[in-house]
Amino acid sequence: MKTIHNEQGRTILSGIKPTGKPHIGNYFGALKQFVDLQNKHNGGFFMIADYHALNFIQNAEEMRTLTKDLLIDFLAIGLDPEKSVIFKQSDVSEHTELAWIFDTITTLPYLKRAHAYKDAMEKAEGGEEKISMGTFNYPMLMAADILLYSPDIVPVGQDQKQHIEFARDTAEKFNRTFCPEQSEGSIFKLPEAYIMKDVETVAGIDGRKMSKSYNNYISLFAEDSEIEEKVMAIVTDSKAEYPENVFYIHKLFRPAESLDKLYDENKGQYKKLKEILIEDLKSFIKPLREKRREVASDTSLVKRVLEEGREKARTVASLKLAEAKRAVGVL
Ligand code: ADP
Ligand code: TRP
Repeated sequence: MKTIHNEQGRTILSGIKPTGKPHIGNYFGALKQFVDLQNKHNGGFFMIADYHALNFIQNAEEMRTLTKDLLIDFLAIGLDPEKSVIFKQSDVSEHTELAWIFDTITTLPYLKRAHAYKDAMEKAEGGEEKISMGTFNYPMLMAADILLYSPDIVPVGQDQKQHIEFARDTAEKFNRTFCPEQSEGSIFKLPEAYIMKDVETVAGIDGRKMSKSYNNYISLFAEDSEIEEKVMAIVTDSKAEYPENVFYIHKLFRPAESLDKLYDENKGQYKKLKEILIEDLKSFIKPLREKRREVASDTSLVKRVLEEGREKARTVASLKLAEAKRAVGVL
């Protein structure tokens, strides 16, 4: 099998949960980087994190549809199965197996520090008893997702940074516990998060972080009518000279210079600025939407891509898991 890295040996891996239609925050915060890095490094591992999504999507039909849709989204934005390994987490059982091994070297208070857990605690009005073990263990499965493939770089949005740190800590702890003499030949390579600075957090139409859970997003493949409706609904402060929340979204689609000029020339003209943003969004989204339609019309494509991805991912993951199993003494 061809190795997935460029001349300098940089391996890329990332994943995304099939929990709904991607929005422009997902695109600029994560998906776009997947494609850019794939093209720069001649491929990568890109995973649909369906087992992570199972914490949120507990309906079989919905899970199947969302998974298929996400694969189509991946292909529509330019992930290329000829260059990259595109696969589904649940197709490679090594992930859950390694997550178990990690569970045994991880403590309860450590996992309680995870943002995902803290967020869930905030939302769960009844307190801890409403939190699933899957939510609690989320970072250990994610550590396994990453460490099985020894990536150098893991492109994600700012909100996932802590999870990458957890994966690093877990790799270190495993190496320290099970292969103390092998300073050079440790089993797990320490991954690095890759976060693009100027798009750290894309703001939604209400100014908070754009997120499915806040319902403040603009879909990546939105129809024109949705674009119009969402932009017109952007919350603006009637006292300010220029509408910040419009500006924050707009800056994703225009270079800084042209944007500053536009906002200077149209001080106080919120409606006009929104109309210009609508046009910019429409011309950005149209080709993506058309490409998505084309991909979706090939009915056997999803199956073919996932089968191929599963075989390639398993080849790599099974070797790494065997090393870990030998190190802990179950093999
Ligand atoms: P959501 O918050 O809408 O549920 P997810 O948690 O599914 O989004 O995130 C998928 C990926 O997109 C992650 O890598 C995450 O960091 C990134 N991402 C999500 N929302 C944003 C945002 N507003 N700005 C930048 N990146 C984001
Ligand atoms: N937890 C990530 C998210 O919510 C998705 C994910 C799962 C992931 N496994 C991963 C991201 C491995 C990077 C690497 O967006």
